[in-house]
Amino acid sequence: MTLAIKASGLAKAYGEVVALNGIDIEVEQGTVLGLLGPNGSGKTTTVRILATLLQADSGSASVGGFDVVTQPDEVRSVIGLTGQYAAVDEYLTGRENLELFGRLFHLSKFDAAKRATELLDRFDLSDAADRGIKGYSGGMRRRLDLAASLIGRPNVLFLDEPTTGLDPRSRQGMWSVIENLVSEGTTVLLTTQYLEEADQLADRIVVLDHGTVIAKGTSNELKSQVGGDRIEIVVESSADVARASELIQEFGSAAASIEDVTKTILLPVAGGSTAIVNIVRKLDENKIAIADIALRRPTLDDVFLSLTGHATEDNEESSAPAKGRRGRKGRS
Ligand SMILES: Nc1ncnc2c1ncn2[C@@H]1O[C@H](COP(=O)(O)OP(=O)(O)O)[C@@H](O)[C@H]1O
Ligand SMILES: [Mg+2]
Repeated sequence: MTLAIKASGLAKAYGEVVALNGIDIEVEQGTVLGLLGPNGSGKTTTVRILATLLQADSGSASVGGFDVVTQPDEVRSVIGLTGQYAAVDEYLTGRENLELFGRLFHLSKFDAAKRATELLDRFDLSDAADRGIKGYSGGMRRRLDLAASLIGRPNVLFLDEPTTGLDPRSRQGMWSVIENLVSEGTTVLLTTQYLEEADQLADRIVVLDHGTVIAKGTSNELKSQVGGDRIEIVVESSADVARASELIQEFGSAAASIEDVTKTILLPVAGGSTAIVNIVRKLDENKIAIADIALRRPTLDDVFLSLTGHATEDNEESSAPAKGRRGRKGRS
């Protein structure tokens, strides 16, 4: 196994604030690592250390086989970095921005122009190439920023929250662009606070909270840590909740739990779809009317919640006031 990124015991404090508490990270060449965590968990600090923009207080790290402290120039020659906020010049056109980056990478004028055209085409920016980027949408800016970070043909790419603030459609666009890069063999370290983003793009996930790694593994490994499938049954009448729960217990893999207010029964199960059929039949035989029944697989939201006891910041915002499955789970 060849490691494109290896970090051991990275720690960093800003004065009194401990941003990183001694974290280990390994990213195999050609794979995507999702560094997942809420605001302030230490994602950007990690990226800045690995990209040689910031020195750790302790620990060590290498990128592309080069030490970030003793070989920073070599590290910089193999990496690309896209920040949380697009680092492009407002007053230039998309094409001019890319040509400028090319020149900064010591490409000849001819080669810089050629590379700019190539990248504009690839990121679906050809039509807007000669317009000032002041008029670009958020999604276009991110694509331009990503294009700029690819000028030097990096082997290792750092994407710091590449889709934060984008609308769902632009987010999908970024995802497919990133998937293309990965399919060409680029190693990617991607930070995100979006669980679906890590789920969609990352081969392996490292979960950060308060500067500490609280979990790592594939998305499936993380999900199985919080338990298997559950069936959620809502009965029509609150008078039936307790009896229904007793009747269906035999199909569960663990004790059912009840939420009286919502007339809901949650039953952990091993074989989800078979259990649904059995439950429906059993309740029907006993004349208990079902308002709703659904199979719930654990999501990364559940993982984060169970590991930290709190949802990601993003989710707290979007689910407030407490409503829907996450809020309900919080009260149970
Ligand atoms: N330049 C800085 N000065 C002081 N504190 C900082 C600075 N940069 C980050 N921090 C703090 O360090 C912690 C980690 O921040 P950061 O790495 O930016 O997290 P994330 O990218 O996950 O939001 C936070 O508590 C943040 O407030
Ligand atoms: Mg950040």
